[in-house]
This record gives sequence, C-alpha cells and structure tokens, in this order.
Amino acid sequence: MNEPEFSLKGKVILVTGAVGLIGQEVCDAYAAYGANVIAMDNQADALDDLMETLKTRYPGQDLCAMVADVTSEESLTTLFQGIQEQHQKLDVLVNLAAIDAKFDEGQKDINLSRFEHYPLELWERSVAVNATGLIRVTQHALRLMLPSRSGNIINVASTYSLVAPNQSLYKTDSTTPPVFKPIDYVGTKSMVPNFSRYVATFYAREGIRCNTVVPHGVFNQHSKAFQENFAKLSPLGRMCDLKEIRGPFIFLASDASSYMTGSTLVVDGGWTAW
Ligand SMILES: NC(=O)c1ccc[n+]([C@@H]2O[C@H](COP(=O)([O-])OP(=O)(O)OC[C@H]3O[C@@H](n4cnc5c(N)ncnc54)[C@H](O)[C@@H]3O)[C@@H](O)[C@H]2O)c1
Repeated sequence: MNEPEFSLKGKVILVTGAVGLIGQEVCDAYAAYGANVIAMDNQADALDDLMETLKTRYPGQDLCAMVADVTSEESLTTLFQGIQEQHQKLDVLVNLAAIDAKFDEGQKDINLSRFEHYPLELWERSVAVNATGLIRVTQHALRLMLPSRSGNIINVASTYSLVAPNQSLYKTDSTTPPVFKPIDYVGTKSMVPNFSRYVATFYAREGIRCNTVVPHGVFNQHSKAFQENFAKLSPLGRMCDLKEIRGPFIFLASDASSYMTGSTLVVDGGWTAW
C-alpha cells in the first residue's frame, strides 16, 4: 500500500481509545503513513507511554496526546478547542473508545451473570461510553469538519453488530464457571453500522464520509483453549494478528477509499460468512 492514494501525509487524525489494543496499532500505522496523529484516551499515563514510543519511532513528526473522557461534554469541548487551536482542522476521526468485556488472559472483572440476571448498571455504563459517547465525539468532530466541507469518520463495530455471539467460544474449561459475552457489548455495538449509515447519508453532500470497520478476535495473549475454540468456529481457522488490522484502517482513512461511505468493512476471518 505505498501508492500515493494511500498516503496520509498532512492529514490530521484523531484516534479515540488510543491506548487500547487496536488503538495503539492504528496510531502507529497512521504515523507510519505520515499522518499528524492526535491520540486520545482517558488513561493519561498510558497515553504518555504511547507518545514516547511513537515519537521515538517517528521522530520529527507531528504527534500528540490529549486526555479526554467520551462521556464528558466538558472534557470533549476542551479536547476539540485544543484541536482547533493546534491544527485548525480535523481530517479523520476514528472512534475506537469503548467498554468491551475481554476474555484474554489476565481479565479478572468478567461478570459471570447469565442474561436473565445481567446487572443493568453494566448495560447503562456501556451505553454511556459505546453509544452516547460515540454520538458525542462525532457531533464535536462534525462541527469542526463542516466549515471546510471535508471530513472522514471511521466507526468501529464488532461481529456482534452483525450476528449473535456463539457463547460456546467462551467455554474453555469445565472446572471454571461459564462466562458469556454480555448484552451491553452486543447491544451497544449493534447500533454502530447503522449509525455510520445515518451520518454517511446525512452529510454525504457536505463533504463528509463515514464508514464502519468490523474487527474480530484480535489476538492478545488468549489462552490455548480459547484459541482452539476460536479456530473451530473461524473459516480462516485462527485469530486476527494485530498487524492485520492496520491495512483496513489505513485504507479507510486515505483517499484510496474516497468513493466509500456508509459501508461496513468486515475484517473477521470469515466469521460471519457461514
Ligand atoms: N479487540 C478485538 O478483537 C475487537 C473485536 C471487535 C471489535 N473491537 C472494537 O474495537 C475497539 C477497540 O477495541 P480494543 O480491543 O482496542 O479495546 P480496548 O479495551 O483495548 O481499548 C478501548 C480503549 O477505550 C478507552 N476508553 C474507554 N472508556 C473511555 C472513555 N470514557 N473515554 C475515553 N476513552 C475511553 C480505554 O481506556 C481503552 O484504551 C472497540 O470499539 C471494540 O469494540 C475490538
């Protein structure tokens, strides 16, 4: 992908959830393709670490970190004022910030409730970040993009925006209590592809594009049992390597995807194909 239409040189790109598993990789990919990356997350220390790594790897490039909380209007107002002052524009917004119940090694706070007992406080917490937070950030970004009649928004959904979780994926050991992919994640992620279509069609004649990426099963020290379960259910027979997420995000942020809006780019190893 070293054709000029894939270049991100001079593009100002805001990545929310930047210190997450995918966020760090996407920030690195965008920096590698020449973008001015604004890495945003509510984890200040981890943002400092990320910036140190990126600035060492891409010296002289315009890279910065901004701490903000997608659930706070005040925090987002400060963030976008900062972007306006520093860059006077925003070319691309990547909405990665989310609450996602993970099942990789070391995750200790998985709620074990079956759906009929699932605590609604957890649903409401995820709605505030994954749904309302997504809308809030997108509104702020659009206000900055519209005066230049140019902008590109990339939302991040899940295979569980398209199909239900196969709960057998999460059964790895008969001696431990069963775990389930919870409704807060499935419900909030389900809105994302159609939210992208809403934004895409609302602003199509005003120079704004909006698309969705659907990642799935990005490997992060998952147990052998989990990987084996995953392999059985996946047409490609394996989890996604973190590096394999770079191309789709570079493509959608670049002018190579200029005729795409309202679309859903599925990067799931074929999971939803059967
Ligand atoms: N990892 C996967 O395999 C996978 C699969 C499908 C979809 N996704 C989606 O990709 C996105 C990123 O996933 P990930 O694996 O990197 O997740 P992650 O949990 O590693 O990262 C999410 C990031 O969002 C940040 N965040 C949470 N609440 C926030 C708030 N209120 N304000 C600002 N930042 C906040 C967290 O600090 C974290 O850095 C998510 O939307 C997720 O649903 C991931």
